[in-house]
Amino acid sequence: MSMTSIGRLLSRGHYSAPPPLDLSHNIVLYLEGISVSFDGFKALNNLNLYIEAGELRCIIGPNGAGKTTMMDVITGKTRPDTGSAWFGQTIDLLALSEPEIAQAGIGRKFQKPTVFPNHTVFENLELALAGERSVWKVLFAKLSPSQIARIDQVLETVGLKDHRSTQAGSLSHGQKQWLEIGMMLVQEPKLMLVDEPVAGMTPQETEKTAELLVSLAGERSVVVVEHDMDFVRSIARTVTVLHEGSVLAEGSIDKVQNDPKVVEVYLGE
Ligand SMILES: Nc1ncnc2c1ncn2[C@@H]1O[C@H](COP(=O)(O)OP(=O)(O)O)[C@@H](O)[C@H]1O
Ligand SMILES: [Mg+2]
Repeated sequence: MSMTSIGRLLSRGHYSAPPPLDLSHNIVLYLEGISVSFDGFKALNNLNLYIEAGELRCIIGPNGAGKTTMMDVITGKTRPDTGSAWFGQTIDLLALSEPEIAQAGIGRKFQKPTVFPNHTVFENLELALAGERSVWKVLFAKLSPSQIARIDQVLETVGLKDHRSTQAGSLSHGQKQWLEIGMMLVQEPKLMLVDEPVAGMTPQETEKTAELLVSLAGERSVVVVEHDMDFVRSIARTVTVLHEGSVLAEGSIDKVQNDPKVVEVYLGE
């Protein structure tokens, strides 16, 4: 094979945007009757959750409530003992592997940033765009103009345009979190799951993150797990309170914060 055809092959990449999602009932995620047991202990107990298309939802709840386990079920990392999980009208999440769920359009950001510290911000986004290809192949390959445009658009969205060539390792903690949100965004998810995005951030970074997450909802759905109540107040339309693996309360932040059941659970923490 000639060098040019190898180059062409590499530059084509393995990445493709997620297939269209059937949102005809305006619901992006259905979790129904989900239970997960660990050695007889029910981490999730008949959990029901519905997320609307374009919604920004906050999930709160005391430690051990099942928030992370819920995200593990959605992303295919943990299989429930009972229940069903659908992405849009037609995609049965319980029938898909973890990579297939990611490819279908569900992105997840873990609490700890996992950027590549020795690569630039741009290269990190390039690597995220390429998915599972090796670092060498990705950085050797030539990006298409539309791929470059997409990365530049994401840089703008997450506020890192001026840090395009900065080594990711030298970014602030907040900037690393934004980069990681960007790494999810280049893959064009329809549903983003974000675990404790503002932990360890400065007040200014927290405020910028609130604006960013609000701006991301609409075109996609965003589910945020967060402890910081002021932050939740600043972004949430609907808040779901988890407790002992089930939904304890759901509604506006004012409604749930004044709910005696919620007050009791948080006082007992
Ligand atoms: N792999 C596991 N093995 C055993 N117990 C687990 C496992 N993962 C979670 N748990 C338990 O399930 C419960 C829910 O945990 P988790 O989903 O992490 O809660 P949260 O994220 O709301 O703090 C906790 O009591 C936790 O100890
Ligand atoms: Mg957790």
